[in-house]
Order: sequence, then C-alpha cells, then structure tokens
Amino acid sequence: MTAQPEAARLEVVGLGHRFGGNLVLDDLSLRVGAGELVALIGPNGAGKSSCFAAIGGQLRPDRGRILLDGADITALAPERRARAGLARCFQTGSVFASMSARENVQTALSAAHGSFWRPWRPAADCAVAEAGALLDELGIADLAGRAAGSLPPPAIRRLEIAVALAARPRLLLLDEPTAGLASADRAGLAALIRRLARPGGMAVLFVEHDFDMVAAIADQVVVLDRGARLAAGTPGEVRADPAVRAAYFGEAANRIDGR
Ligand SMILES: Nc1ncnc2c1ncn2[C@@H]1O[C@H](COP(=O)(O)OP(=O)(O)O)[C@@H](O)[C@H]1O
Ligand SMILES: [Mg+2]
Repeated sequence: MTAQPEAARLEVVGLGHRFGGNLVLDDLSLRVGAGELVALIGPNGAGKSSCFAAIGGQLRPDRGRILLDGADITALAPERRARAGLARCFQTGSVFASMSARENVQTALSAAHGSFWRPWRPAADCAVAEAGALLDELGIADLAGRAAGSLPPPAIRRLEIAVALAARPRLLLLDEPTAGLASADRAGLAALIRRLARPGGMAVLFVEHDFDMVAAIADQVVVLDRGARLAAGTPGEVRADPAVRAAYFGEAANRIDGR
C-alpha cells in the first residue's frame, strides 16, 4: 500500500477576479505543503497582492476555492481565517509605535489567547516570557524594551512577523517582507524566513522580487503573470522553464520583474 500524500496546508483552486474590466486573477491554482516555504514571484501588477488578499479574506474572489488544511475557507471573514490558522503580515500599521516591542507582542498574544487568557489583566502583565521567546526567535530580543516606533526598519519588519506569529499560525503570508531593506538586512531576513518554515510545521508563502534570494531559500516557486500561473516548481525547475526564461531572463539579470 502506498502512503497517502500529505494534505496541502494551503490549496488555492481556480482563483478568478476582475477589478472592473481588468482581469487580475486568471484561473490561478497553487498549493503550499505543511512546512514548505513557497515564493510567489512575478512582475509588478501581476496580481500577487490580490492573491494574498484573496487568501487572507480581504478580497472576495469572483471564482475559485481556498482550502486551509483541507477546510474550505473561501467564504470566511479574515478573523475566522486567523482562528483557522492563517496569519497575514501587513507591511504598515501592524505595530503600535508608542508601545515597546515586547508590549506589541504581548498585546498580540493576549488577543490570540482570547478570553482564555485572563482578559482582566493588562497586556503588560501577560505572557512576558512567551513574548520574550518570540522576540528572541526573531532575533530582536535585545530591543524588547524599545518603543516600536523608534526601531530601525529591519527590526520593525521582524517585530511585525513576531506579532503575526503570536497567534501560532499554521500558514504565514509575507508580502514583500524584504522590500526597502539594505542588502545585508535582506539576507538576514531571508535566512530568518527560511527558519520559520519547518517540516511538518508552519508553512510560509511569501512574495519576493530577487530571484537569487528566492532560489537560495524557497522549496517551491510559483510564477505569476497577468494573474495566471506561468510556471511552478522548485527554483531550479522554474529557472529552467522556457516560458519563464522567455518572459524574464532576457538580458536583464536576476530580478524576475526585470527591474
Ligand atoms: N482595489 C483595487 N481596485 C482596482 N484595481 C486593483 C485593486 N487592487 C489591485 N488592482 C489592480 O490589480 C492588478 C494586480 O495588482 P496587485 O495584486 O497589487 O499586483 P502585484 O502585487 O503583483 O504587484 C493591478 O493592475 C492593479 O492595478
Ligand atoms: Mg504587491
């Protein structure tokens, strides 16, 4: 008897969406296995963020289905998806600038634990050790007492991920997590993202422009072009794909969007 293949953590099937007359998601299907690190790449305007919004529940697609650990979440509100194990990291506005880094994570932890987590106690008293462990995991434990608004951009990016992880998601969505960072900081964050996805554990789907970075860390790559899936596979398979080569690896170097 052959073993059943492990169910996909995330399964996106035939996603379609139009904004006015503009087709932004065109019969898009993709899957993310448990513990996998999957990169979504494609030129600006390809529909990557729209795809994330559909998965996160901020955008209700015209057609298609989204399954998380086999359960259909297509019609669920974002907060119900969060309870089902999904976390989407927003680039701005997800941390409270005047709170310390630790308080930000404590607040997220108390929200995630809900009413079971002694709700009458102020966030400042809750989950100090758990918040410390998360900040440590994200490599910013030394900044725990600093106001979030005073942190340098790379640390804020890590804090945003720590806040997202407070809910202990099974799937984490990161839309361009390294955008705007200097190259040393990008490399550090890439290594961290690689460690977040663990065999049998949390899966990560992320958007990134630099194909070399994607190739260095991702298990699978999905290439999006005008809302449709142009190619999918391991970084090596995608790099060798004739359609990808024709579209993106002309004379322009490693940036998949040709910038
Ligand atoms: N809320 C919206 N209303 C109308 N058009 C939108 C909206 N959001 C995105 N679009 C359009 O959808 C297309 C895909 O955008 P987006 O998903 O942001 O692409 P990407 O993240 O790959 O750059 C673009 O043409 C963009 O202008
Ligand atoms: Mg985008």
